[in-house]
Amino acid sequence: MTRLVSQTPEDTKTIGKALTKALSTGNSIGLIGELGAGKTQLVKGLAMGIGIDEDEVTSPSFGLINEYTGDKKLYHVDLYRLDTIEDIETLGLTDYLDGDGICVIEWADRLANDLSLIDILVRIEILPDNRRMLEFSGENLTAFERALNLLKEMAWR
Ligand SMILES: Nc1ncnc2c1ncn2[C@@H]1O[C@H](COP(=O)(O)OP(=O)(O)OP(=O)(O)O)[C@@H](O)[C@H]1O
Ligand SMILES: [Mg+2]
Repeated sequence: MTRLVSQTPEDTKTIGKALTKALSTGNSIGLIGELGAGKTQLVKGLAMGIGIDEDEVTSPSFGLINEYTGDKKLYHVDLYRLDTIEDIETLGLTDYLDGDGICVIEWADRLANDLSLIDILVRIEILPDNRRMLEFSGENLTAFERALNLLKEMAWR
């Protein structure tokens, strides 16, 4: 099972919140999906899962990264304003991807390097009637399989 359908923004947050139970310090999540797909909603859910107020979560307005602190640190990267595809190293993201917190990256498709550096990739597709298809993949099987096991329990739709 690598797919879930979300019917509402709350569903998407619930999925993010559940995912945090599968994540350890140093894990990373990449989010891919068009404008308004629900990437930030998913980040709000991740934040809630680690004890951060969802209202703190807004896309970084200066620089690329916001940092929030709850039970763990959450680094929130948004690459929307990048004009060109960039290397993970050039952007200085290597340390965040394998750092002292959890790192989530909106517009991860703007990264040039091997996306396998990211533990869990979530592709969000807009479906009719506010629904979203969330497709999960990953090559770090420890983090990814833990996530899938949790998501399986959420196969409510
Ligand atoms: N099932 C759903 N899941 C997530 N968001 C939904 C859903 N249905 C409707 N929405 C709405 O879609 C919008 C998603 O906005 P959000 O900021 O999360 O998108 P985004 O992918 O981060 O966009 P951007 O590329 O601009 O950063 C919100 O207004 C939210 O209320
Ligand atoms: Mg966003």
